[in-house]
Amino acid sequence: MFADRVQRARQQFADRNPGSRRYYDEARQFMPGGHTRTVLTHAPFPLNFVAGEGATLTDVDGHQYIDLLGDYTAGLLGHSEHRVIDAVTAALNTNVSVGGVHPAEARLARLMCERFGLDRVRFTNSGTEANLMAISTALMATNRKKLMVFHGGYHGGVLYFASGAAPWNAPYDFVVAPYNDLPGALALIEEHGSELAAVVMEAMLGSGGCVPADGYFVRGVATAARAAGALFVADEVMTSRHGRRGLMNLLGVQPDITTYGKYIGGGFSFGAFGGSAEFLDLYDTSPEGGRSWSISHAGTFNNNVATMTAGGVVLGEVFSADLAEAHTERGNEFRENVAAVLARHKAPVSVSGFGSMMSLHGLRTAPTTPVEAMERDNALNELLFLGLLERGVYIATRGMMNVGLAHTDEQLATALDRLDDLLGELDELMS
Ligand SMILES: Cc1ncc(COP(=O)(O)O)c(C=O)c1O
Repeated sequence: MFADRVQRARQQFADRNPGSRRYYDEARQFMPGGHTRTVLTHAPFPLNFVAGEGATLTDVDGHQYIDLLGDYTAGLLGHSEHRVIDAVTAALNTNVSVGGVHPAEARLARLMCERFGLDRVRFTNSGTEANLMAISTALMATNRKKLMVFHGGYHGGVLYFASGAAPWNAPYDFVVAPYNDLPGALALIEEHGSELAAVVMEAMLGSGGCVPADGYFVRGVATAARAAGALFVADEVMTSRHGRRGLMNLLGVQPDITTYGKYIGGGFSFGAFGGSAEFLDLYDTSPEGGRSWSISHAGTFNNNVATMTAGGVVLGEVFSADLAEAHTERGNEFRENVAAVLARHKAPVSVSGFGSMMSLHGLRTAPTTPVEAMERDNALNELLFLGLLERGVYIATRGMMNVGLAHTDEQLATALDRLDDLLGELDELMS
């Protein structure tokens, strides 16, 4: 029923966006598929954005959108956070690539340690790299080779577990466990425990459909992992925005190592891994460290001036722990309002998530596991995406929506109205 409608919706999208089509056709000559970030592409072609202001995006054809995607959580601050822009401009006017250490990096490190309860932290260029480094740390600390990850998990381009381990992943020895299934995960820890270097887990599957972890599941897995001599590594690249110290903290777990990314860089490339001194001090090459061996960690742009400065403003001035707590509540309220709109309609659409991160699903009830999330009606999800675009609301093709700091109450209310309108149209298809 919904599949029949998709072609028409794609054609209407193409008719409305001739400028984006032209950019797409040109881009395809030089980039395979016309993109360099797979998640941003979709049929018939992606929009080409030229401007952003607050939580509004403008495309090359002059359409304006309420930006409810927030760059997959990296855009928490919106498009005009002048405290970040001004500080980075000033820093870049002083120095660009110093090839040495500078004060902004230690400032950001202190802010991260204080905020998230870490002993030490190190910076990378992306969340992917942060996870790769966290894994290296665990392999070196334990002298073991196996890693437990979860079905539906995503930890970066080469750490992708939507349905088992992707064949293009980095060549680690992975054991893929079921998410939110404590007996299933414990059985695998029992089987592989003596070989496991780390268990790597998201507190909520982000890419996997905003499926939050049950607290008892996370706590049970973390306890069993440690009992087996493995490190518990939390991927909070997306979820550190929740509560005062991130979602793992709200679930009652202090990981051995946690990875970070996205919004903390204030719009610049960012990644970090931090945690207990016992493991992070494996990187201590200083004379004071007195270590007989250490891990070398390179990366030309690890401490780049733009990101280090931006991050210092994000955590030091913009996104305080109090604001993070309030923003989590605001996100929960918005998600409840979305659910109330969905409940008024016949179309089988649900919303899952936690705090300011959520996802629409072409499913009657919100998924609690990635297996359930994959059962959704993809045609219906595509109609939701294209239908919201037509109504001036930009979300992820897969349905992800993220409330940001720049959204006004009016914009959120408008987004709800547009969703209501779209669902009314989908209801007609069902009658
Ligand atoms: C949970 C999670 N981990 C890691 C990553 C990878 O981060 P990056 O895209 O900065 O490499 C992402 C990106 O979406 C993510 O959602």
